[in-house]
Amino acid sequence: MKKSLFIVLDGTDGAGKSTQIQKLKRYFGDKVVTTREPGGCLEAEEIRQYIFDHPHLSAKEQFDLVWKARKLHLEQTIKPALNAGKMVITDRFDSSTWVYQICEGESPELIKAFWDIRKTVLSDTEPDCYIYLRVDSKIGMSRKTDQKDVNLNYFDTVKIEILEKRRESFKTFFDQLPSAKIKIVDANKSENEVFQEILDILTKL
Ligand code: TYD
Repeated sequence: MKKSLFIVLDGTDGAGKSTQIQKLKRYFGDKVVTTREPGGCLEAEEIRQYIFDHPHLSAKEQFDLVWKARKLHLEQTIKPALNAGKMVITDRFDSSTWVYQICEGESPELIKAFWDIRKTVLSDTEPDCYIYLRVDSKIGMSRKTDQKDVNLNYFDTVKIEILEKRRESFKTFFDQLPSAKIKIVDANKSENEVFQEILDILTKL
């Protein structure tokens, strides 16, 4: 049984998720397990690498792989941490599957499978809250291109119109969940302001 908070941090490119996750780790120390998707455990990280190494996978193939990785991530990292009383914060989760595989992959035929799998896989471990870092696409894009030290994957090399679509797609996902689970943070603000807002949300939870 889940004994602690399970938080998803998601957002479009350049929203600052990785920076905020690092700050949260520094702030909470051992009380938090920070993780990411695709990945978050050894086998799921291998699946992540496989996805990034194969740019021509269909949306359905990506969909199956990210859910396979998610099951491993839940069993091997997320549930053990929650059961040990640690808060878990993951950089991306099923919200990204909705945005990238279903919406961007133009695969509405996967919608039913998405909700069915979600119900089964997350039955006892639904996220308590999705914190969505909402950034203007232009700002996000310029932040991303300024990051010279990161390895860009094929999802990263996109035009502004695609970032706009991703923003809309996040909205369509969150609109289908209970509003109490969704917290939207204005990620155009400074790193410290965003961090403070995230802390406020976590404190209230
Ligand atoms: P990552 O390098 O972690 O980039 P970012 O900083 O954008 O999070 O790459 C993760 C990529 O994987 C990201 O582009 C979104 C994609 N992704 C999916 O396509 N489906 C998913 O279910 C998840 C969790 C991520």
